[in-house]
Amino acid sequence: MTLIEKAEVAVQDTPLVPIEKVVSLCKRRGFVYPNSEIYGGVSGIYDFGPLGVELRNNIRRFWWWSMVQTNDNVVGIEGSIITHPRVWEASGHVENFVDILVDCKKCKRRFRLDHLPPENQQQNKCPECGGELTEPRRFNLMMETYIGVVEGDKMKTYLRGEACQNIYLDYDNVLKSSRQQIPFGICQIGKAFRNEVTPGNFLFRQREFEQWDLQFFVHPSEMTKWFEYWKEFRFEWYKGLVNHKDRLRLRPHASDELAHYAKQAFDVEYRTILGWQEWEGIHWRQDWDLSRHSEYSGQDLSYTDQETKERYIPWIVETSGGVDRTFLNLLLDAYEEEPDPVGKEPRTVLRLHPWIAPVKVAVLPLQKNKPELVERAKGLYKQLQRVMVAQYDDISNIGRRYRRQDEIGTPFCITIDFQTLDDGTVTVRERDGMTQIRLPLDEIKRYLLERVNWNY
Ligand code: GAP
Repeated sequence: MTLIEKAEVAVQDTPLVPIEKVVSLCKRRGFVYPNSEIYGGVSGIYDFGPLGVELRNNIRRFWWWSMVQTNDNVVGIEGSIITHPRVWEASGHVENFVDILVDCKKCKRRFRLDHLPPENQQQNKCPECGGELTEPRRFNLMMETYIGVVEGDKMKTYLRGEACQNIYLDYDNVLKSSRQQIPFGICQIGKAFRNEVTPGNFLFRQREFEQWDLQFFVHPSEMTKWFEYWKEFRFEWYKGLVNHKDRLRLRPHASDELAHYAKQAFDVEYRTILGWQEWEGIHWRQDWDLSRHSEYSGQDLSYTDQETKERYIPWIVETSGGVDRTFLNLLLDAYEEEPDPVGKEPRTVLRLHPWIAPVKVAVLPLQKNKPELVERAKGLYKQLQRVMVAQYDDISNIGRRYRRQDEIGTPFCITIDFQTLDDGTVTVRERDGMTQIRLPLDEIKRYLLERVNWNY
């Protein structure tokens, strides 16, 4: 049994969740806030609140653990957001990283040409109001910035448009400073910036977002083998995280979608209220990146095989996904409203994987005006807080407190009640089935560590 199977949660099929429900939950409970809200906000840029940052860190840590720490032939780096401007000439972004956009002359809405339905493209018609569209215009997505203090002497460069470029820049240094030999991979998680023409759908399309990349360097003769390997690995990885596995698929790119150097590419796609959408891309990058950086920098980035003495530019398999899309998709996957068997209001529950849930456990004294219960509860809370994210809650009745925890995805609540004072046992209430069992107080830490930590 794999680790992922060990903690899997069985979930019924449920209707697709409107994005607005998740946006509202995120603001109300401190997952995500609009950036600079007091100034009216900035389209396509968000901040993460107290629970959001925990969830985000868990998602990142899980990726890092399964990609870097448990793969002997993969190492990690953390590159800078700003690089030499030539990098973006070599990568092709300065010339080609463009969206083609059109405006409606009547309602003034703006669209990406490739996002318009085919009939609207052919008839040059706005999909919203039927108005006439302007001629298509090219719009570069790179965000410009300047290095230097003296006006006139400043160097124009860019906030990175994709995080993976740092990996090619550091490839030679990693090779020389680690004991890796081809085949091997370099991973990174980092921010990327794009002046998206049509940011929207909450975290789905932003102007500042975070990517996770693996660039795996291989001998050309082994490209197919490794491409297949990582494609399956990444698909299974996502499958282990979502409840609704039927909403996940691998879609091969059609020939007109492929980059000029790619023989094949696949998207891991997830179905939400927005339809089937890309979550991660598995790309056949061939020798494009290292060849271009060799050419533009003048540094030879070819590799010499120690045994055969063969010299070649390594080919690359890329797996490139988004932390923010993962955040959004996991919330859409986990969010559920169901009739409450006890109360009148429907129960909102986030069926997040226990490893990913921002808060692992809530400790609740049955009554806050009973010092003997409060003392036991606080003692347990302090003990658990050292090994996992825990909350202590004594506000309002126990039913309400359970609901508050369900809504943020806390997999376990521990209630200290009067029986605890008699026999030293506590109630362990589980989020998904709302089942309750009793366990001795001194077994709780071990029990929870086994249930909520993947690398325990
Ligand atoms: N290095 C390859 C690359 O950047 P990409 O398909 O442009 O490929 C990879 O981006 C992933 O980054 C996407 O699958 C998506 O998860 C995420 N992503 C891309 N643009 C995004 C945006 N504007 N907002 C949020 N996530 C985005």
